[in-house]
Amino acid sequence: MPEKQLDVVVVGELNIDLVLWNVPMPEYEKEQLAADMRFAMGSSSAITAHNLSMIGSKVGFIGKAGEDTFGDFMIRGLERGGVDTSRIIRDRSLKTGATIVLANPPKKALLTYMGAMANLTLDDMDWEYIARARHLHLGCFFLQTGIRKDVAKLFARAKAMGLTTSLDTNWDPEDKWGEDLLQTLPYTDIFLPNDDEALRIARTAHLEQAIAALQKQVRVLAIKLGKAGGMVRANGRTYTHPGFPVEVVETTGAGDSFNAGFLQRFLQGADWSECLRRGNACGALAVTALGGTGAFTDRESVQKRLNAFLG
Ligand SMILES: Nc1ncnc2c1ncn2[C@@H]1O[C@H](COP(=O)(O)OP(=O)(O)OP(=O)(O)O)[C@@H](O)[C@H]1O
Ligand SMILES: [Mg+2]
Repeated sequence: MPEKQLDVVVVGELNIDLVLWNVPMPEYEKEQLAADMRFAMGSSSAITAHNLSMIGSKVGFIGKAGEDTFGDFMIRGLERGGVDTSRIIRDRSLKTGATIVLANPPKKALLTYMGAMANLTLDDMDWEYIARARHLHLGCFFLQTGIRKDVAKLFARAKAMGLTTSLDTNWDPEDKWGEDLLQTLPYTDIFLPNDDEALRIARTAHLEQAIAALQKQVRVLAIKLGKAGGMVRANGRTYTHPGFPVEVVETTGAGDSFNAGFLQRFLQGADWSECLRRGNACGALAVTALGGTGAFTDRESVQKRLNAFLG
């Protein structure tokens, strides 16, 4: 078999974040002022793809964007990170979505227009391209409303083609954690929820119970625990790592960066505790800068800072 051209193909959503800092709650018929603003790449899947590429994996992205400024911004951002964007479909009839974040630390309110991400479907998949990758990752399951009912099929076919699969659902805005997710888990090699999501999906208030239930459905369960690091349950064994203490600037994209570190070491054949350590190192690095990709803009400094964590 020819050598694979890509380590990971990410199937995902593309939207931008506009963050306004220290704003009063909006009121109709009033203009109010924010103390600061930031315009950045949003999207769990895009942040994972970008950061995974910045730490050295070969990454391609399949997604949908409008033919507009936000779409250009997202694609340019991914390209700056070294991600192959040739399979991002530009659709003139659609708008690239946006999330307005009203940030009053530690609280934030999010307003999202989903836009093109809701229109990516199974029919948009380029199977010949997917076959070039060793692994398929999908982020933001619940926001990808056009494809979520078919992710089980997508994963099943990818696995039949010899790829491994991973899934980070992120939060379900409807708080339903539907049947289509449960159908996807048996085809998921690496499942990457955070602790709150794991509880919701397993429909329990106790993490031990959630772990017991979810480990039966996926090959490897990796649960993100915020500043407490993370844990992995695989082959009947539990691995834990307390994370790396850092000075937090902003936590956007911590989970997505954890995914990047974890998947990179998995694809290098590392054991689960190594995957977990690299996941935590990338998560910790992410929270030291503004935005999901802010700490992953320069390969050399990323490597240096990860080495400082990992020794
Ligand atoms: N305050 C922190 N200090 C150090 N590391 C952190 C901190 N917060 C998060 N991390 C690292 O980032 C990882 C992911 O964070 P978290 O558990 O918040 O994921 P998440 O809720 O999925 O995040 P996201 O909001 O990006 O979806 C953690 O497992 C940990 O390694
Ligand atoms: Mg998350």
